[in-house]
Amino acid sequence: MSLLIKNGTVINPAENQMEKLDIFVDDGIIQKKEKNLEVNADRVIDAEGCYVMPGLIDLHVHFRDPGLTYKEDIATGSAAAAAGGFTTVCCMPNTKPVVDSPETVTYIVEKAKEAGLTNVLPVGAVTKGMLGKEVNDFEALKKAGICAISEDGKSVMDSAVYRKAMKEAARLGLPVMAHCEDINLVEGGVMNMDAKAEALGLKGISNAVEDIIAARDILLAKETGAKLHLCHCSTRDSVTMIQEAKADGIDVTGEVCPHHFSMCTEDITANEGNFKMNPPLREREDMETLVQGLHDNVMDVISTDHAPHSAEEKNQVMEKSPFGIVGLETSVALTMTNLVKTGKLTPMQMAEKMSYNPAKVLGIDKGTLNIGKVADIVVINPDETYVVDVNTFKSKGKNTPFDGATVSGKVKYTILNGKIVYSDAE
Ligand code: DOR
Ligand code: ZN
Ligand code: ZN
Repeated sequence: MSLLIKNGTVINPAENQMEKLDIFVDDGIIQKKEKNLEVNADRVIDAEGCYVMPGLIDLHVHFRDPGLTYKEDIATGSAAAAAGGFTTVCCMPNTKPVVDSPETVTYIVEKAKEAGLTNVLPVGAVTKGMLGKEVNDFEALKKAGICAISEDGKSVMDSAVYRKAMKEAARLGLPVMAHCEDINLVEGGVMNMDAKAEALGLKGISNAVEDIIAARDILLAKETGAKLHLCHCSTRDSVTMIQEAKADGIDVTGEVCPHHFSMCTEDITANEGNFKMNPPLREREDMETLVQGLHDNVMDVISTDHAPHSAEEKNQVMEKSPFGIVGLETSVALTMTNLVKTGKLTPMQMAEKMSYNPAKVLGIDKGTLNIGKVADIVVINPDETYVVDVNTFKSKGKNTPFDGATVSGKVKYTILNGKIVYSDAE
């Protein structure tokens, strides 16, 4: 099937290109990119007023499959990804069983292929059973198809174990995606440690919980040469540390989630589970530092930490609710509304942080709209305003504090391998 995308503003970080061009796709490949293309195509998309970006890449989602499919499964997660404009997602290994065997990797790869709505790249667990003791066989996991390693949901607290894992990851060229949390410092905290927590009578999680492990992981990356990617950075000091580490020549990248740049602890209006995520919403100064870090390109990646849970689990007070909110179907709108429309990020930077840079972190040949590349493309109307309604989500997870928010930025089409896998009109 051939496809012509007309009249859109093409934003292609790989060529620093932002201009009104038509794109012709055939055989799943970007064939032509010109002004006013005159060519016959099986299907024509009018992208007038829209941005045409490389398909978005989310380095951080939880698809809960195998084992926890009442929260999400690979098919519903893939549908949510497509609806959110994502053509590639990396799924974290804290499933049941955890992703620590080639068999589980193969299961995910096969099931994702069957769904056929987005590229799903499994992330392998760092340790057996994610118990923090025994480093997994990354070589075997890589052969089966993992794109990175992570113990997401927690940190490997034993630094010797983590160093060994990092050395092996460096040898194999696998990125290490780090969830930074000193579990011994958490002490039952459920939200940020501040006046709001006190007012709500809730135990707090201090910035040091994250910062101590971020510092350790940066030092271990320096020592081992591993490619370190810091997940869901939420504190002002994590931004400073990444900036310093980069200046020191350490191979580190930083990720920020939409909830951490869109909300802060002041926005928590009640003791409700949908405000609970890990790391938590921080203070205004942290949020502003994260935004500045994105603006300055200290922070490289926007990813969602899409963490679906059931309504029963999340419709509880914070002490009882699990950590996590869904993100795939609100990420474009929150980025557009809170970063691009406010002038904090250019549209080019948005494409960099949501596609081009994630591809670089993974070392995959994606995230570009260059001629000859696989046609993974998203068409976004930056000016379309709407109200977030969780009932329209493809995800099983409806857990988000952004339900009912008025946002700008609508995903109109998601194209995977030259095929339309999502259209907001259909
Ligand atoms: O909020 C979170 N939810 N943070 C994590 O690190 C884990 C995730 C989950 O698996 O639900
Ligand atoms: Zn995490
Ligand atoms: Zn996560």
